[in-house]
Amino acid sequence: MLISFTQQAKEEPKRKKITLLPFADMHTGGTTALHPNKRKIHGKYERLEDIGGWNYINRPNFQLDSKQLAIWHHFEKCLDWARELRKDSQLVIVQDGDAVEGNHHNTPQLVTIDEAEMMHTHRELMEYTQERLDYGRGDSMYYVFGTDSHTRNFENMVAMDLNAYQYPDGKYCSSFLELHLNGVKIWIYHQGGVAGDYPTRGEALTRQLKKIWYKCEIEGIVPPDIVLTAHTHDAVYSTYTQNWKTMHGIILPSWQEKTRYALDKLPLSINKIGLQAIQISENGEILPIKEPMLMTSPLADIVRIGC
Ligand SMILES: [Fe+2]
Ligand SMILES: [Fe+2]
Repeated sequence: MLISFTQQAKEEPKRKKITLLPFADMHTGGTTALHPNKRKIHGKYERLEDIGGWNYINRPNFQLDSKQLAIWHHFEKCLDWARELRKDSQLVIVQDGDAVEGNHHNTPQLVTIDEAEMMHTHRELMEYTQERLDYGRGDSMYYVFGTDSHTRNFENMVAMDLNAYQYPDGKYCSSFLELHLNGVKIWIYHQGGVAGDYPTRGEALTRQLKKIWYKCEIEGIVPPDIVLTAHTHDAVYSTYTQNWKTMHGIILPSWQEKTRYALDKLPLSINKIGLQAIQISENGEILPIKEPMLMTSPLADIVRIGC
């Protein structure tokens, strides 16, 4: 009896299929970003319409505008899709930077200028997300730092509040995350490659992957199988193959419509809003990477004059 117990203890824990959901650039607190349209009151989720809005201390009765409402409906659709997808699998949620908008550069595009309130809203948003995705035993959540001017240390604090993974140095957020999921090596950081302009779309990301390949070769590191970055609020998937090994690179979509700053700077580009999912089988096989569920976002601020 004792022998069989010892043998059992030495065995590797049984692997499960993994569903990796990397959220990115949520920018909670921005007027053009995803904002929850439901809030838990005494243990029950209520719609903001029914409870007089989200009561920020200096902005009571805050209600979503039509753009935020459209993003919220898309978010709910993504959660329905992800809930189905994750059935019978272990869920790994990653927040790849810019979780909160932060009070930066004196922008007026904030639902509250109080960064603690933004953090609380983000925490409630992620608690809702966990509930909707049946997040529980065996599942895990990781936070990665975004752009310092936006988020400073707030992501670390909100990750701690959410009981996310604690890194070995004691922090709850890190600039670089390396995950090994069923033997698949994944690198996650916020600022990486760019998607590239349309005739060369994806090529810049392939070059980034190639650079990573050679960096690993020179430094004697096993190259990652998947590289996930964010920051550009774009979405693109590209690969690089060398020595019969393929690296997968994804720039993750965001959860924010363009701000005034982005509209002025990049008037022709469209923010990609939505959710990417990656699944890894029990045997460590990366299942075919499907398109993220993206919201179709028209160039809403264009005014057409004349006919
Ligand atoms: Fe961002
Ligand atoms: Fe960023």
